[in-house]
Amino acid sequence: MIKTAIATFLAILTSFSFLPFSPPLPKPTYHSLFLSASLSQNSSIAHHLFTLTRRPHIAGSDANSDAAAYVLSTLTSSNFHSHLVSYRAALTYPASRTLTLIPPPPDPPFTFELRQEIYAGDPYADVADEVVPTFHAYAKSGSVSGPVVYVNYGREDDYRTLDEMGVNVSSAVVLAKYGQIYRGDIVKNAEREGAIGALVYTDRKDYGGGGEDGGEWFPDGKWMPPSGVQLGSVYSGSGDPTTPGWPSTEGCERLSNEEVEKDGHVPLIPSLPISAADGERILRTIGGKVAKEDWQGSKDGPVYRVGPGPGIVNLSYFGRQAIETIQNVIGVIEGAEETDRFVILGNHRDAWTFGAVDPNSGTAALLEVAQRFSKLQKRGWKPRRTIILCNWDAEEYGLIGSTEWVEENREMLASRAVAYLNVDSAVCGPGFHASATPQLDELLKQATQQVQDPDNSSQTIYESWFGSSNSEGIGRLGGGGSDFAAFVQHIGIPSAIMSYGKGYPVYHSMYDDYIWIQKFGDPGFHRHVAVASVWGLIALWLADAKFLPFNYLSYAEELQKYANDLKLEISGKDINLTPLLKSIEELEKAATQINNQIKAIKENEGWQSIWQKDHLKVRELNDRLMMAERAFTDRDGLSGRSWYKHLVYAPPKHNKYGSKPFPGIEDAIIKAKSLNNRESWQSVQHEIWRVARVIRQASLVLTGGLT
Ligand SMILES: *[C@@H]1O[C@H](CO)[C@@H](O)[C@H](O)[C@H]1NC(C)=O
Ligand SMILES: *[C@@H]1O[C@H](CO)[C@@H](O)[C@H](O)[C@H]1NC(C)=O
Ligand SMILES: *[C@@H]1O[C@H](CO)[C@@H](O)[C@H](O)[C@H]1NC(C)=O
Ligand SMILES: *[C@@H]1O[C@H](CO)[C@@H](O)[C@H](O)[C@H]1NC(C)=O
Repeated sequence: MIKTAIATFLAILTSFSFLPFSPPLPKPTYHSLFLSASLSQNSSIAHHLFTLTRRPHIAGSDANSDAAAYVLSTLTSSNFHSHLVSYRAALTYPASRTLTLIPPPPDPPFTFELRQEIYAGDPYADVADEVVPTFHAYAKSGSVSGPVVYVNYGREDDYRTLDEMGVNVSSAVVLAKYGQIYRGDIVKNAEREGAIGALVYTDRKDYGGGGEDGGEWFPDGKWMPPSGVQLGSVYSGSGDPTTPGWPSTEGCERLSNEEVEKDGHVPLIPSLPISAADGERILRTIGGKVAKEDWQGSKDGPVYRVGPGPGIVNLSYFGRQAIETIQNVIGVIEGAEETDRFVILGNHRDAWTFGAVDPNSGTAALLEVAQRFSKLQKRGWKPRRTIILCNWDAEEYGLIGSTEWVEENREMLASRAVAYLNVDSAVCGPGFHASATPQLDELLKQATQQVQDPDNSSQTIYESWFGSSNSEGIGRLGGGGSDFAAFVQHIGIPSAIMSYGKGYPVYHSMYDDYIWIQKFGDPGFHRHVAVASVWGLIALWLADAKFLPFNYLSYAEELQKYANDLKLEISGKDINLTPLLKSIEELEKAATQINNQIKAIKENEGWQSIWQKDHLKVRELNDRLMMAERAFTDRDGLSGRSWYKHLVYAPPKHNKYGSKPFPGIEDAIIKAKSLNNRESWQSVQHEIWRVARVIRQASLVLTGGLT
């Protein structure tokens, strides 16, 4: 009944949309209107995606600059005050690559083409020569020759398995599979173990339809074709490697290549990504012991052996380094009441090739959100706080556009940003996923309760997300996988990231194009619409709510879980967790206290809110909620990695994609377990004290008290 009344009301509003001016409506009405079918459009999202991905648009290219112009004009025509923010970033491109396999005699040497193939009828054949040759960004230049060792996924554990088999990668070229850890860590691990070069390939079993639930490859099915290659960066830092901690503005200070190499974020051995077909060809020339069962590939493929050799590869890669202009697009709707408080939405635009899933499904969703906001503005909506839409450049190289902007605006953002909401790849398949700093948990749950599951009209996203027995729940932001990194890990801004689907076979290859999405990722584009709805609704709530809808009780709960895990990890060691446990208890009390204060004010609202004093009180409470996340950062940052200031969420040292909490404690434990001396365990204790101290700071901020 009520729903029908609202629908009628909305219908009437819509019919008056030709009016140049409408009187303001209550905020919740705008929020329902934002979600209404009359405002959300799969066709315009599809159009944005098609336009953005017509040509390959790697960072620094003219095509990516054209894509920036498209985003800028769409934001401008949606009433956003928009502008470009450019930086001069150190990027690398492939200058020359050769890979030759020298099998045991009598077979002759074989030189690989290293080319992803166009298929019959490929509508993008006309621009295929604009696709960058397959390479690893920031790979070390050089030529190496050595016997091949198969190292499974190239994890540290895989090398321990090889140790047990008596196999040593010293002076060898490793052949590793993509899929379990960050590719930069695959190459770093190989380097640490003494290898002279690394080849990283896409195994058919994992990506090519050669597994249990396999099928045909693109364009007939969703799987990676045999010649498909996953490009990507092997840099493990955040931001332009030559400007760590400061923005890459024209003429700025820069590190030399030698200094960058000393920083430890780039591998010092050459590497190349290769296809499933090329990987399999090399595997056929590797002898030695048969690899373990779970290291094997497709049933119809060769038996995988570990080597070394007898097959030898000559690998040669030379990169071209260039300082290129990168462009972030920034669009702003000024807040009517709290202009100096920012709700920030971000997505990157640059892609290794066409980037239909990664990242332009997200860019299309961003533009959809912008256009819906514009329609709300035409109906009289003005956000209480300022909303900023950001479209980042050079994310693929190492989160560069977002990191440089955060570094340039650090103090302004640290004092004014309420939250950062990231969407990278918006859609690659079914199933909603989200990660967040824990004070946003409730908001994510509530927003997904308002939006229909695009794959089942009889339930909400929330019901399908949490309803299934294998639901992962809300993830966290300790990994370095996208543009939230600088916001959370460098300056401590409450953040979230969301997507439909998680992982897809043609990732970072030439086949990540519009046709793949239309046929396999999101036929009908309803998942795109759903992501735009959740993303925009959370932004609206954060921008319009009188009290910021943050709940730090979830934070305390989450920290308690980490502490329990930690207890198990260090059991039997002489380590005292009491300071940490006490700080978490205090945080829980502080969270309860501020929640109660807000509740009390809301209950009195009717007669009190006319007083100016009340406005100041609301502002003061909101500042406490906003700044409490900042308190988890520490000036000195993580030991030996001082750019990472957040002591709860940052990537652990040896796995950029990993998401273990308390990275400082975790790094210290790994070191202590290998050295196992008094000093190293004392440094674990020291890291525990440091975490306890930042949690205590957060409690003080929440209660608004001085000692
Ligand atoms: C691996 O082999 C190299 C050279 O053959 C040797 O110097 C090195 O000690 C070996 N490493 C291990 C861990 O066995
Ligand atoms: C491979 O590299 C080695 C060492 O540089 C060189 O002697 C050999 O001729 C190369 N083989 C081929 C087939 O390129
Ligand atoms: C759709 O959702 C309803 C309600 O939750 C559920 O009973 C049904 O099984 C779902 N259908 C599919 C195909 O998942
Ligand atoms: C949008 O959704 C409608 C209804 O499901 C569908 O017919 C149409 O093909 C979709 N548009 C696109 C571009 O997929």
